[in-house]
Parts: sequence; structure tokens; C-alpha cells
Amino acid sequence: MIVLGIETSCDDTSLALYDRERGILANVTASQLIHEAYGGVVPEIASRQHMRALLPVYDALLAKAGLTGADISGIGVSNGPGLVGSLLVGVGFAKSLAMGLGKPVVGVHHIEAHVISNELAGEPLHCPAVVLIVSGGHTALYRVERVGRYDLIGQTRDDAAGEAFDKIAKLLGLGFPGGPVVQRVAEKGNASAIPFPRAMLDRGGFDFSFSGLKTAVRQHVDACATLTESQIADIAASAQAAIVDVLVERTVTCARAHSVAHVYMAGGVAANGPLRQAMQAACEKAGISYHAPLLQYCTDNGAMVARTAEHLLTAGRNDGLALDVFTRGPIKSWS
Ligand code: KG4
Ligand code: ZN
Repeated sequence: MIVLGIETSCDDTSLALYDRERGILANVTASQLIHEAYGGVVPEIASRQHMRALLPVYDALLAKAGLTGADISGIGVSNGPGLVGSLLVGVGFAKSLAMGLGKPVVGVHHIEAHVISNELAGEPLHCPAVVLIVSGGHTALYRVERVGRYDLIGQTRDDAAGEAFDKIAKLLGLGFPGGPVVQRVAEKGNASAIPFPRAMLDRGGFDFSFSGLKTAVRQHVDACATLTESQIADIAASAQAAIVDVLVERTVTCARAHSVAHVYMAGGVAANGPLRQAMQAACEKAGISYHAPLLQYCTDNGAMVARTAEHLLTAGRNDGLALDVFTRGPIKSWS
């Protein structure tokens, strides 16, 4: 069984082929660098770029895998949450292809796909588990009973962790997307130079808040007459440490409260080196197994969509031409 996965929920056009026996056969991504000039993703431009990129990416994917459309047994496409225009392009393409090839098509919840991206490391998800989702649009903790059964435990009340990285990078004049560049600049900085707030750590529950950190960074930057390279490095390192501390403390406390033996991370921010190291160390200390996706499957990719679609198709789902998009909402259980 070979499944095509299509991801166009934000600014990456990414397609992949997943084979039940052999795993990922190919994954091809066209990233939209054009948004850098605007300091963030411009929705209208994003959908137009997806329209331009989809067919060439599809052709390149089949060529890379040495296959033709006739080899595809089913199609999965991210149908939400995300930018409505971007999602519509991907879903329209998926439905046309399904109709042309006479194959089933399923809508994949983008956040569920991030959770399942962990399976691309080679092992099935060990459940029950607590999963920390940290992406550009989402920060949430889920309890996963099994693939297909999800309970939302906590989420951000304002900015997502990735959004915090992006906004801090913008304040420091570091470019977009902010996460990777903040991580790089922070390597030369002192993480305890500035005591930025660790929001919500003092309160119960499992929600997050990152808007206070963003404000604290802005106030700190405004108070500096000029910013030297070493000051920028210290701010980046201190802000990153504040984000990492909160994510790690909340996740491990949540895993303990839910008596699970496994912690997973997922989403673009899960690529962050200091977060991976700190989460692993805290989990080891707490006697919990730590897991994170392979680095190339942290940010948006077609592979995680194809892998998730295989689960859905195997469960007998086919959304057909009625498949629609949605812009927000937690992962829905289906098993
Ligand atoms: O999962 P993703 O590709 O897209 C969404 O579904 O939102 O996540 C993108 C986010 C961006 O905010 C980006 O700055 C962040 O992930 N990110 C990182 C790193 N790499 C990507 N944040 C921190 N450290 C990184 N190394
Ligand atoms: Zn994502």
C-alpha cells in the first residue's frame, strides 16, 4: 500500500509517498522564502505559491520514487487547522487527483500528523503518552491513549512557542522564521544573563502563556540604547531558556500527573537543540521515556501526512469529494 501525503496548511508545499513495508519512499518540499521579505507569512501570497508549486513538486516526487500515479493506493491531505486559502489549494488538488486515479482521499488533522511524525523514526507510538505540540501556530499538551484517541490537556492562552521565537527574532532584527536563527545566535550568549519571566510556572493546570515574555523582551530591547552582537546573543539565549524551562516543566509535570511512561514532542520547535536536550534530561530524571521526531520531520512535511493517512485509510476511511477544510480546532479522536 503506497500513500501520497499532501501538506499545504501554511507556507510549505510538501508531498511524500509512504509505503507500509518500506516506510517513506520520497519527500519533496518547496519552501516559500518570499515571506522573509515581509517578516511573516502573507496568506494571499502563500496560496498562490502553493498553486504554482504543487504540480512540479508532485512530478518531482514521483520521479524521485521511480513511480507513477497508478502506483498510489490512497491520498491524505492536511485539511486543517491552517490558512484557509492554503488548505483549499491542497485539498482541491487532492480531490482532483483522487477522482482522476479512482482512489480514496482522507483529510488529515495537521496537528495529529505532527504527533504521528514520531513514528517516522521507525517505531510505533508507545502509548499511553503525553505529547507536547510546539509549532508556529500551536502549543498544546495531549494525552494520547492510542493512535486515533486524543485528549487535549492544556494549550497556550496567547502566543504559540514558535510564534514567540519568531517575534523575539523580529525584535532582535534576526529575520524569519525566528526559531532556527534564535537558536544559532543563542549559542554565543549567556542564558542566565537576563531573568525573563517563566509564565504560568507558578500556577496549577497545564496551560501556557508566552505573550508576557515577548513584552519583557521588547521592554528590555527598548531600554538598550544600542544592541551589540553580544547583547543580542544574551537576549536570545535568555529568552530561549525561558521558553525551554516552561515547556519542559509543564510537560514532565503533566506526564507525572497522568502516570504515563512516555513523553513525545512534535512540531517545528521540537527541532530546537536546547529544548531536546533539556526535555531528555528532565524525562530521564523522572524515569520517563523521551521521544522526539527526526529533525527533518519536525517542521511541516508531507511525510507525516502520508504516515497518518495510512492509519486512517487502513481504518477504512474515505472522505471523498465532500472533504472540506477547517481553520482551527483540536485533534478529534477517531478510534
Ligand atoms: O510545525 P511548523 O513547521 O509549522 C506550523 O505548523 O506552525 O513550525 C514552524 C515554527 C516556526 O515558528 C519556527 O520558528 C519554529 O517552528 N522553529 C524553531 C526551530 N525550527 C523551527 N523554533 C525553535 N528552534 C528551532 N530550531
Ligand atoms: Zn505544522
